[in-house]
Amino acid sequence: MLGSGAREHALLLALSRDPGVTGLVCAPGNAGTAALAEQHDVVLTDGPAVVALAARVRADLVVVGPEVPLVAGVADAVRAAGTPCFGPSAAAAQIEGSKAFAKQVMADAGVATAAASVFTSADQAAAHLATAPAPYVVKADGLAAGKGVHVGSDLAVATAFARDVLAEPGSTAVVEAYLDGPEVSLFALSDGSTVVPLLPAQDFKRVLDDDQGPNTGGMGAYAPLPWLPAGTVEQVQRDVLQPVVDEMARRGTPFQGLLYAGLAMTSKGPQVIEFNCRFGDPETQVVLALLDTPLAGLLLACSTGRLADVGPLAWRDGAAVTVVVASEGYPAAPVTGDDVEVGALPDGVAVLHAGTRLDGDRVVSAGGRVLSVTAVAPDLAAARSLAYEGVTAVRLRGGHWRSDVARAAVTGEVRLP
Ligand code: AMP
Ligand code: GLY
Repeated sequence: MLGSGAREHALLLALSRDPGVTGLVCAPGNAGTAALAEQHDVVLTDGPAVVALAARVRADLVVVGPEVPLVAGVADAVRAAGTPCFGPSAAAAQIEGSKAFAKQVMADAGVATAAASVFTSADQAAAHLATAPAPYVVKADGLAAGKGVHVGSDLAVATAFARDVLAEPGSTAVVEAYLDGPEVSLFALSDGSTVVPLLPAQDFKRVLDDDQGPNTGGMGAYAPLPWLPAGTVEQVQRDVLQPVVDEMARRGTPFQGLLYAGLAMTSKGPQVIEFNCRFGDPETQVVLALLDTPLAGLLLACSTGRLADVGPLAWRDGAAVTVVVASEGYPAAPVTGDDVEVGALPDGVAVLHAGTRLDGDRVVSAGGRVLSVTAVAPDLAAARSLAYEGVTAVRLRGGHWRSDVARAAVTGEVRLP
């Protein structure tokens, strides 16, 4: 397992429940993954170093968590060395690595998404924005860890953001139409031709309650979505996921790994906001908490072109909620190095580690998102209460979290346009 977030902790936890798994190795990991896996230090984007580690530990499967090593071609290097690898090639990872590329794939595959214009000139972007209706959506083309997007109704601010993006030599900005409606994260496993969707989830991207404050990597999530119209997952599989996987294969760059569709449920139906080329964080924490099918077998089937042989996935009844506990100052300037303590947890709660490290036998914060407190219960209201009960067991100086994760879904206040 490559990576060090709560997503990787959740993946390792699910892999450890698979009776086919004889051992787990994680690089670089965190204080939580150390309890499940042998840990190694490796530079995640260093293909030869990852290949050498996989050989040294005789890995049967390498799972790449984050997008950066995928875009850098680490999965290509592992596969070239003969080890099955869960994660797309660098060419296929461009579906996340370049928003302009993703728009082209969607256009060729006939997939519904926000109309977009691509700019390399700041003056042309500014002129376009001046004639576009508010709210404005401006994105940097490349990977930006959630910080490359501006959504807002002030033309001057949107224009300044576009000028800022394009001040970087060789950069590209995308200006696109605003999509209304609640967001859905739908993950799908793909072996390059077969597509198997997982449970739909919802993420909370802004740092403060009621979607205020700056965007983050994600402050909480829940699954499944009680307000999602029946048949939506099947519709997205037919109209979005399968056409995109087919188009990637047609281009000679098959997508093998986890295809993450970020969707807006608009008045015109589901439309794609973005694709990611890997599991989402924190949605993975809730989706995998509900998965009963052994995960290692599934990921290996994806990596070896045998996903069609896998039967329908088995899911636990009930719901899962995760609440991210972030460090003081996150997302602008996270403070690290503080003690992280977790007291007794109620049944049904797991604390997944993200930005933590071991300092002797102390656990200290080492990043912006520190812990992901995840609860599973028979229904969403119970899972939500349990997750917040779990949060009260966490001690972290300056730690903060959203208090409204899954609230609108529980009270029936998620509105479709
Ligand atoms: P992205 O990095 O593309 O996922 O964008 C981050 C967030 O910005 C998304 O989760 C949305 O909340 C918002 N966003 C991005 N594109 C749009 C759009 N076209 N319309 C409305 N909101 C958007
Ligand atoms: N939760 C958003 C992401 O993983 O990109």
